[in-house]
Amino acid sequence: FGLTAIVPAAGIGSRMGADCPKQYLQLAELTILEHTLARLLSYPAIERVIVALAPHDPWFESLPVAADPRVIRVEGGAERAFSVLNALQVADSEWVLVHDAARPCLTHGDLDALIATAMNCGGAILGSRVRDTMKRSDAAGNIIATVEREQLWHALTPQMFPTRTLKRALEEGLMLGATITDEASAMERAGFPVRMVEGRADNIKVTRPEDLSLAGLFLSQQA
Ligand code: CTP
Ligand code: MG
Repeated sequence: FGLTAIVPAAGIGSRMGADCPKQYLQLAELTILEHTLARLLSYPAIERVIVALAPHDPWFESLPVAADPRVIRVEGGAERAFSVLNALQVADSEWVLVHDAARPCLTHGDLDALIATAMNCGGAILGSRVRDTMKRSDAAGNIIATVEREQLWHALTPQMFPTRTLKRALEEGLMLGATITDEASAMERAGFPVRMVEGRADNIKVTRPEDLSLAGLFLSQQA
């Protein structure tokens, strides 16, 4: 069976505040996006990777991976969910994995665990357990409660679902104006089961400047 990976890479990286979108920042020998694509393309079950790029993205074409016949590009949208939806239009495998361009430290071990559980449970995402004591506050910052930590997770990617179901759930959610920050939120809203798979905490999303050196460290530790 062949899997399709969708990589939303159409963001501008405003929190990173660099001269170019963060996925094109250099991390050791390669850009972040090249690391991410290499991790996916070297996984045997992944046959195609659909990359959603900003309109008139001037950077992607010059990367060697752009010439890989398994890499397909589509135009991204104004929000991440639209970028993913555009990629879903050309996905033709039964299952898709959606993985942030800005998560270069994904391991094959986590892919193994995610894929096995998703196919068993109808859909799954990688997550990591929260470590700190969790509080809920009101808008002014007054603490209302200490929240039970046992069942709280950071939602990571990849997130894996049946292609057609995810497409319908995203379309429906966007049409209704729901807040969709990841694929699972659209699936949850539509009433589909989504299983959490405990993944590695080093599968970070490079978001702020300090995350760059952290991702570099994790990559060197994994090598
Ligand atoms: N993304 C996308 N299309 C968008 C917005 C985001 O494809 N319209 C992608 C980003 O390129 C990134 C992933 O979604 O790989 C996760 O989003 P995020 O970390 O928020 O990246 P940015 O939106 O680029 O960063 P920021 O929110 O700081 O501007
Ligand atoms: Mg963003």
